[in-house]
Amino acid sequence: MPSSSPRGAHIRLGKPSLHGICRYTPNSAEPALGGSTLSHTGTVVDRGLEGVVVGTTELSNVEGKEGRLTYRGYDIHDLAPSACFEEVCYLLLFGQLPNKQQLEDLKVRLAANRMLPQPLVESMHTIPKTAWPMDVLRTIVSGLALFSPVGEDGSHPSNPRSAIHLIARTPTIVAAWDRIRRGLEPIEPRNDLSMAANFLYMRSGELPITEATEALNTYLVLLADHSYNASTFAARVCASTRADIYAAATSAIATLEGDLHGGAPGKVMHMLLEIGKPERSEAYVRELLKRKERIMGMGHREYKTRDPRAEHLEHMAKTLGEASDPKWYQIARALEDASNKVLQEEKPGKRIYANVEFYTAPTLFSLGIPADEFTCMFACGRMAGWTAHILEQLGDNRLIRPQARYSGPPVHPFVAMDQRSTRHGNGKQQAEAPNA
Ligand code: COA
Repeated sequence: MPSSSPRGAHIRLGKPSLHGICRYTPNSAEPALGGSTLSHTGTVVDRGLEGVVVGTTELSNVEGKEGRLTYRGYDIHDLAPSACFEEVCYLLLFGQLPNKQQLEDLKVRLAANRMLPQPLVESMHTIPKTAWPMDVLRTIVSGLALFSPVGEDGSHPSNPRSAIHLIARTPTIVAAWDRIRRGLEPIEPRNDLSMAANFLYMRSGELPITEATEALNTYLVLLADHSYNASTFAARVCASTRADIYAAATSAIATLEGDLHGGAPGKVMHMLLEIGKPERSEAYVRELLKRKERIMGMGHREYKTRDPRAEHLEHMAKTLGEASDPKWYQIARALEDASNKVLQEEKPGKRIYANVEFYTAPTLFSLGIPADEFTCMFACGRMAGWTAHILEQLGDNRLIRPQARYSGPPVHPFVAMDQRSTRHGNGKQQAEAPNA
């Protein structure tokens, strides 16, 4: 368990607990779990696993009440201005900050693994140009397995080497698809550039300015890990079956895409574009909430404060905006103020503040990255955390396999085909026939 233990029931997924059952006993400081009832063999926890501790990790710690995020004990506020993304990859994969030589070696290994297998690049040319970048990323990351070493049992070894392959190649896929869909040839990665500089170079063919490289580097550092978030949990569940690292990373990308998780920043950008002028923000927010919609980039399951990463992203959005077009930062700033004001009025007592995705939108947009690629950028950073979690899971593995509370009809006799009416069964509306 991390030193500052999170609230909630601690259920060690995959590890045996007393009689296979771990009962939830709320303490008075905790909100009761809505709808918790006991089933035959286990405890039914709240929908969404809220407040449930499902495992242990040494990789990162999210302290929601304090608004603190640490990677292996290092505060994100110290890492963001000082560490390069490669350093954070080392920290997550190998357990400590690298010395100069170790960092140099990792940079060389990452740079040497950036190229995509040629058949995968060729296959990307056959994809419809309208394909969503996240669909392409998920598919091609899965495809990397086809060109990776295979063990005797046909699976791909899951080890730091394959983690480095995945971290190195994910940005190459994103940059290649950005160009292919614009009708341009992909640009080969350079091995003399940092992860951040090389990514920007692969999009345009030009060396980026220092400010852009630094901003992207900080973004990747901030996004590198975040404890048992939904995509990381998906990766760990997949790895726990002893599926290999490529399969587990693909599960993580698939889970990232929804807008309750990594799919939000593109939608934040759409809001900024729709709002168009800072002074329109408040009316926009009121209209959105009237329609019972959510303000993208606001709210978090764990943080009950402003997301600690938002501070750095806001600073970057402002600085990059000053050098190009300050409008997007200005609208975002006005939108955050308006959201705080209106949410406090409409949902008093709920603590809904800007999350990491909010200022990601103006930051990445100022770097010239289109809104529909924002989630792919998230994946570029998070691949470090996903692969480290997959290896951590495998280091102390047990199949993660929870139970479900059955809520269907009780056991009843099979009904022969000639005795079935269109409405037989439990009286609930029948699913439509496949060819209806
Ligand atoms: N806009 C408006 N209302 C919000 C909100 C938002 N962004 N986030 C939460 N709420 C409200 C909900 O409507 C709900 O209100 P109600 O109880 O009156 O119905 C209440 O806050 C709790 O929401 P719930 O969905 O149970 O909380 P959660 O812990 O599951 O929410 C998120 C976490 C991230 C899913 C949620 O804040 C959200 O949808 N945010 C927008 C999407 C986003 O930014 N995703 C990226 C997350 S990093």
